[in-house]
Amino acid sequence: MSSSTHINFKQYLASAKPAGVAVPAGLQDLLTAVVNTCSILSHEVAQGALIGLLGSAGTGNVQGEVQQKLDIIANDLLIDGVKGCKSLAGLASEEMELPVPVQGTGDYLLLFDPLDGSSNIDVNVSIGTIFSVLKKQDPNAPLQTSDFLLSGRHQVAAGYVVYGPQTTMALTLGDGVVMFTLNKLTGEFLLINDSVTISHSTKEFAINMSNMRHWADPVRRYVEECLAGVSGARDKDFNMRWIASMVADVHRVLSRGGVFMYPWDQREPHKPGKLRLMYEANPMSFLVEQAGGASTNGTDLIMDLQPTDLHERVSVMLGSKEEIDRIQHYHS
Ligand code: AHG
Ligand code: MN
Ligand code: MN
Ligand code: MN
Repeated sequence: MSSSTHINFKQYLASAKPAGVAVPAGLQDLLTAVVNTCSILSHEVAQGALIGLLGSAGTGNVQGEVQQKLDIIANDLLIDGVKGCKSLAGLASEEMELPVPVQGTGDYLLLFDPLDGSSNIDVNVSIGTIFSVLKKQDPNAPLQTSDFLLSGRHQVAAGYVVYGPQTTMALTLGDGVVMFTLNKLTGEFLLINDSVTISHSTKEFAINMSNMRHWADPVRRYVEECLAGVSGARDKDFNMRWIASMVADVHRVLSRGGVFMYPWDQREPHKPGKLRLMYEANPMSFLVEQAGGASTNGTDLIMDLQPTDLHERVSVMLGSKEEIDRIQHYHS
């Protein structure tokens, strides 16, 4: 199919009717601003060393991580790209301790992981941007951190852009999942799949196996059974894939099914997990549920968790429904 047979992102937003209702103009404006910025970011990412983009920035963020130059560049680009958006009330990012109020008159809240997969930047492996949109409950009150502390069920949109061999975006407005690929010559995102679904069964799982000795028993049992395949408790053999960019691992799950796990482990017993609820787990869980999959922390659906901190961590296991049901059963 040539590019001319695919509708672009603007056309999609103008024609989409999630749950029978047109996408509000303010949300269209905000999503367009995010996506246009990701198109620019995709171009920057591809230049790498040629524009001095690789390596550490030598600074730390609120997560206790060393920031890569691209973490900061992506964060700044996104802020610049959306701050003029009239429908936006404020934004929050993995890279910033506090939310940033925006001079808009609207009530949308944007949360993002500007650059997911920091450890893959310098080795030219897929990385991405993850975003989530909420609505401020009290539109007239001054912006507070607590405005963002809404469960994943409150999201009105979520998506990611993966900068890989192709730059591809997945988006949900709460009525299924659609995918777009960036035409790098025109800077336009073009619709390539209007109904993304995750198969209920799978033979593939993704987890950082080097942490096995630290896992809780239910996770160890699940993975040991996958490894044993038909010689153990399962009726099929499994394959393993681990990219170490959540955005790319989840993209594989949305594309061909599978299970992605970053579970709690004993290295940091008092932290609920490694991944961030607001910038990573909630938007990905919204996408996965909307594509017919499931997402859990072991005992609860991630989308149902009530956040108490902007930078809260969570244990994440998501993907094909049959496997997530089994993992939840092992935790019960
Ligand atoms: P980020 O680059 O936004 O800090 O996130 C990194 C996360 C996630 O993308 C990935 O699944 C995980 O960290 C990789 O962890 P390991 O270092 O254990 O592979
Ligand atoms: Mn980080
Ligand atoms: Mn991340
Ligand atoms: Mn990040």
